[in-house]
Amino acid sequence: MFTDLKDKVVVITGAGSGIGKSFAEAFGKAEAKVVMNYRSEHHVEDVDQSIKLIEEAGGQAIKVQADVSVEADVNRLVQTAVDTFGTLDIMINNAGFEKPIPTHEMPLEEWQKVIDINLTGAFIGSKAAVNQFFKEDKKGVILNTSSVHDTIPWPNYANYAASKGGLKLMMETMSMEYAQYGIRINNISPGAIVTEHTREKFSDPTTRAETLEMIPAKEIGEADQVANVALFLASDLASYIHGTTIYVDGGMTNYPAFMGGKG
Ligand code: BGC
Repeated sequence: MFTDLKDKVVVITGAGSGIGKSFAEAFGKAEAKVVMNYRSEHHVEDVDQSIKLIEEAGGQAIKVQADVSVEADVNRLVQTAVDTFGTLDIMINNAGFEKPIPTHEMPLEEWQKVIDINLTGAFIGSKAAVNQFFKEDKKGVILNTSSVHDTIPWPNYANYAASKGGLKLMMETMSMEYAQYGIRINNISPGAIVTEHTREKFSDPTTRAETLEMIPAKEIGEADQVANVALFLASDLASYIHGTTIYVDGGMTNYPAFMGGKG
């Protein structure tokens, strides 16, 4: 469907699991050339499994270990994409981390870790991508995986909500800087999506019911529903979309508590 994605070189951070892994497989099936970044060794097997799947579908993929919060690592990641496939077309800053801790008990390291991965990681990745696009005089695409919590406050996740709120304004600001060069920068903000990270909490009947209460569509989303939006935003079909956020959330950001006509 997104035929212009064929042979495009896409770097995806945090591709070892969850939404990032499904991005990699979706771009691979669209016959893009996929560079899958992961950080921990325990993701290698999953990454290899996605690479196999992509190759079976006629695509190409490689894996690169790198920590998104370390600038030298991210520069090496982008350079590996260019050395292997000749260019960079699409950068997807997807790596993210979350862990609930009440704010008054949150150790500074836990605050910093989430900001470093979710926000600083996207800054470093976006910066590296823009520099590569400038070097090649290319109208590239940058996508960030944000969250409904770039707009909905989330108790016990102050670091996460702050990182995603910051990511929203960083993306909008960068888009304003680089749209004039034809570089498109946008965010995708998923709501409740089943992945290996959330499967356990959503299989708990109470948590599941409480979550469904907050979703007008009354269903938990799937990773491929998020990946479809990434394919669209990266493709030429989205050629006039700059500096925006697409919420993939079954309506979660739309004040579901008012559904019964209360208030
Ligand atoms: C988080 C999920 C959460 C969802 C809705 C996402 O950003 O990663 O764990 O279920 O927001 O609250």
